[in-house]
Amino acid sequence: MPDSPVTVAVTGAAGQIGYALLFRIASGQALGPNTKVRLQLLELEAALPALEGVRMELDDCAFPLLDSVLCTSDTDEAFRHANWALLVGAVPRREGMERKDLLGINGGIFTGQGESIAREAADDCRVLVVGNPCNTNALIGSTAAARLDMPRARWFAMTMLDEKRGRSQIAAKASVPVSEVRDLAIWGNHSSTQFPDAWHATVGGSPAPEVIGDEEWLRGEFIANVQQRGAAIIEARGQSSAASAANAVIDTVRNVAQPTGEIFSAAVPAPAQGGYDVPEGLVFGYPLRAAERGSVGIVEGIVHGEFARSKLAVTTAELLEERGAVKELLA
Ligand code: NAD
Ligand code: LMR
Repeated sequence: MPDSPVTVAVTGAAGQIGYALLFRIASGQALGPNTKVRLQLLELEAALPALEGVRMELDDCAFPLLDSVLCTSDTDEAFRHANWALLVGAVPRREGMERKDLLGINGGIFTGQGESIAREAADDCRVLVVGNPCNTNALIGSTAAARLDMPRARWFAMTMLDEKRGRSQIAAKASVPVSEVRDLAIWGNHSSTQFPDAWHATVGGSPAPEVIGDEEWLRGEFIANVQQRGAAIIEARGQSSAASAANAVIDTVRNVAQPTGEIFSAAVPAPAQGGYDVPEGLVFGYPLRAAERGSVGIVEGIVHGEFARSKLAVTTAELLEERGAVKELLA
């Protein structure tokens, strides 16, 4: 029997990630082959004509699962009854910038959107922040929404793209198909301080460090490559990643909405307990697992060595610094 339709709000829908994302949601790749989708697309007024073109293309695909498409520049209308809010709309960085350099431009977007989601969205609404710097934008949005009683635990920031980048690097190094690389968690910030934890990853069921047999590569080139991959793509393409970012959105939603029981990466507000001593509320990348549909928890019991602990301290310090830079938006 088909499930009831799911309403998915997407912001920045006429942008480059939007263009790579909407068609995949509409074809059922995020929510499954039995779930009809209502798309509610938010754009700046100036981008509405371009968004109308995207809507025409969605129509022209005649997707059987696409129930309806709403295009709007009205935030409340976009989030009304949404079961998912995918917050992509934000300015991307250019070559030479760090993602946190965008806080002053993008941070303010998330206060109003957080409040609107808390007021308008469905009671089960889950939010995935993609717009950078996504961890601290999610902190801003979840704080605004929590003031209106929306649980912070329903907010996520995207680190799935980093996980996939890391899995691909490990697979190439070990000369195995990427499907054999599992349990690679991205800890901390979606930034150049993130810690991709190869020490708890597996390759073909065995510990990744044993299979790779090159601790120096894991500590050096591997981590640096994952941390700097976004910048490398901007340098090569002249624009930030889009198709791979959209692919990571699809997989994040799928991991929550259609759980497999496997470990996956996303950043969530650190809980008071069970958040590996991260200051409460900081939106921090963790290994997550969804046991049943919509119910996601941080994987417990991971013991880090000294090297990992030093990396976690650096990424935590950066997130605290970002939090300090937006304290007016959190007050
Ligand atoms: P883009 O410039 O192509 O598109 C962004 C769109 O957002 C534009 O169409 C713009 O009109 C719209 N927009 C801006 N402010 C808005 C607002 N307040 N409400 C609604 N729409 C708004 O950018 P893009 O390449 O699609 O990237 C979007 C964001 O995603 C950037 O911040 C980028 O850095 C980030 N990103 C994150 C990841 C990740 O892994 N977390 C990966 C790739 C990109
Ligand atoms: C990425 O990781 O590709 C995105 O966050 C875009 C960027 O600015 O690097």
